[in-house]
Amino acid sequence: MATTEISLILSIFLLLTLFNVSSSSTCSSPKLTSSFNSCNQLPTLSSSLHFTYNPSNKSLSIAFTATPPSASGWVAWGINPTSTGMAGTQAILAYKDTDGSMSVKTFNISSYSDIVEGKLAFKVYEKRAVYNSDDKSITIFATVENSGAKINHVWQVGPGVSKGFPEKHEFQTDNLQSKATLDLNAPDGGSSKAADSTSDAIKKKNTHGILNAISWGILFPIGAIIARYVRTVDSADPIWFYVHVACQISGYAIGVAGWATGLQLGSKSVGIVYTSHRCIGIALFSLATLQIFALFLRPKKEHKLRFYWNIYHHAVGYAIITLGIINVFKGLQILEPEKKWKSTYVGILIALGGITVLLELVTWIVVLRRKSNRSTKPYA
Ligand SMILES: *[C@@H]1O[C@H](CO)[C@@H](O)[C@H](O)[C@H]1NC(C)=O
Ligand SMILES: *[C@@H]1O[C@H](CO)[C@@H](O)[C@H](O)[C@H]1NC(C)=O
Repeated sequence: MATTEISLILSIFLLLTLFNVSSSSTCSSPKLTSSFNSCNQLPTLSSSLHFTYNPSNKSLSIAFTATPPSASGWVAWGINPTSTGMAGTQAILAYKDTDGSMSVKTFNISSYSDIVEGKLAFKVYEKRAVYNSDDKSITIFATVENSGAKINHVWQVGPGVSKGFPEKHEFQTDNLQSKATLDLNAPDGGSSKAADSTSDAIKKKNTHGILNAISWGILFPIGAIIARYVRTVDSADPIWFYVHVACQISGYAIGVAGWATGLQLGSKSVGIVYTSHRCIGIALFSLATLQIFALFLRPKKEHKLRFYWNIYHHAVGYAIITLGIINVFKGLQILEPEKKWKSTYVGILIALGGITVLLELVTWIVVLRRKSNRSTKPYA
């Protein structure tokens, strides 16, 4: 058992880290992605830049999103027409005023000590800012005049604003590295690190779907079938037990990973809540966790509580399988993948169902034979 436990913990840990690595993209904001052509996941300060560039009329529309270090802090984005880095930057800065309204200002930053509010080196057609209360971030929307397919841009966040003037930002690595060259013709701004938001989101949804369908929808039922039918074969004892446990534990590990991707998807899709899918998912996770831990509390075969433990174990097991299959179908409804995925899953279920019926028949025949053997023996 010890090795199974260790491998269980290891695989959960591995899968969780795997999915955490890919979770930091803010380029998947659905509202912004639909209104801009491109998104650049900026490498520092957990910020992103959505943009649309129209070379024909030299108009560059952006939505810059970042979270200030405090509620009264500021966020800023700018273009440096003459150099890279802060000195020379023409910046648009936004913060939440004490009365709750958003202030958006432009600053001519000719050097670290010469920061002047006023006109910029290029036209600013439009500027406004929105506070996103769910993640406390600020999005600056602006349209500026720009020619040239590549720009040096700079972004920053700061702790507060005094008398309408931004307070100094921190000088951590993240604050000092917040500059880059942006390729306005590339869908991701030319940053190879930045994943295209839509394909990234689709990838995540598919991962979620596949992991959960395999674990809750396939491995758990197979594990139950093994427990119910293979154990009646005398020579398979106790191997059936280990195969059953291995099946359920790997199902659980994959299921937890799938569950984590689901939580992540849920937290990303603000405003869209699939209540029943979510609730069933949470119930599944709780029941399955209970089931795994109940394994360690299993009374010995001869113990009088073993009978009740078995009833409990089977009831929870069948509940998991039923809810798991229901939730796979609910998930398919939400994701709306190509029809073949649903057909494949239905096909697998029919196959498993067919095997179950067949094994049920075989088991009954075996059991009846044994009985008749026993009952005929005394007379033989
Ligand atoms: C530039 O053209 C685009 C598309 O025709 C339009 O949406 C945008 O508003 C224009 N920008 C300006 C500043 O006129
Ligand atoms: C920004 O400030 C520098 C230095 O004071 C000045 O030379 C430059 O003309 C200013 N730019 C604009 C657009 O006012």
